[in-house]
Amino acid sequence: MDRYAVIGQPIAHSRSPAIHAQFARQTDQVLSYEAIEIAPDALPARLQALHAAGYRGLNVTLPHKVAVMALCETVSGRAQRAGAVNTLIRTDQGWHGDNTDGEGFIRDLQRLGFGVAGRRVLVLGAGGAVRGILEPLLAAAPAELVVSNRNPWKPEALAEAFKPLGTIVPRTHLSLKGDRYDLVVNATAAGHSGRMAALPGPLLARGGDCYDLSYGAAFAPFRAWSEAQGAARIADGLGMLVGQAAAAFEAWRGVVPDRLDAVIARLRE
Ligand code: ATR
Repeated sequence: MDRYAVIGQPIAHSRSPAIHAQFARQTDQVLSYEAIEIAPDALPARLQALHAAGYRGLNVTLPHKVAVMALCETVSGRAQRAGAVNTLIRTDQGWHGDNTDGEGFIRDLQRLGFGVAGRRVLVLGAGGAVRGILEPLLAAAPAELVVSNRNPWKPEALAEAFKPLGTIVPRTHLSLKGDRYDLVVNATAAGHSGRMAALPGPLLARGGDCYDLSYGAAFAPFRAWSEAQGAARIADGLGMLVGQAAAAFEAWRGVVPDRLDAVIARLRE
């Protein structure tokens, strides 16, 4: 049987095995998918061992997404631009690294009907998670793409790095005062400590949508902010998690899992 796994530390609470098991059922694919805990210092040896053992593909989660890049035989352009790898595909020589996070994000916006084309888009935060969504966001042709952070340096560096792909306007949160956006994407880590980034007054245009890359308890502060802004629609990042998994499954199996709503609903139960 073809074997797959997600690697990380900690890994016990990963949703990936449940997601891929449902994809396999939906598409009549016979495969196994495990969660494997790997400590950072063991990563090079364990990756080699998993290749030698015949694994067909791996998903990569914290804390290995950046470190694994240097251990790949080849890395896709989008993973290089994202600065991280979340999917490994077996080749005869070793592992090919890819990043499906941005594709999962855009697929989820499409599923939800949150438009990007011609709209003013604000991304809050400028860390690793943001790097992964900028390429597909630019490709979706927003009227304007603003990346905002507490300090200006990280957004400025991102604007510079992505210049060949399009225009990103770097801002600080405080400088946004008086602006209005049609789509606000929260990609700060503030929710993980129960907080919302400090923002200056109303920022959402009438009919605007709000999307958080995180889900679960970390989503609560941004949800409360979005409600107070009068958002037309608000979504967490559970659909992005399922979307990035679907893109990995497609790369491995050549089959597209297309009933993502059912998988997301099961995860919410
Ligand atoms: P990730 O991989 O989740 O993107 P990261 O690379 O550490 O994690 O980036 C975290 C992002 O959340 C940064 O943009 C960070 O802002 P700073 O660069 O100013 O630190 C942002 N962030 C974290 N805690 C925050 C808070 N309490 N308020 C606002 N922004 C916060």
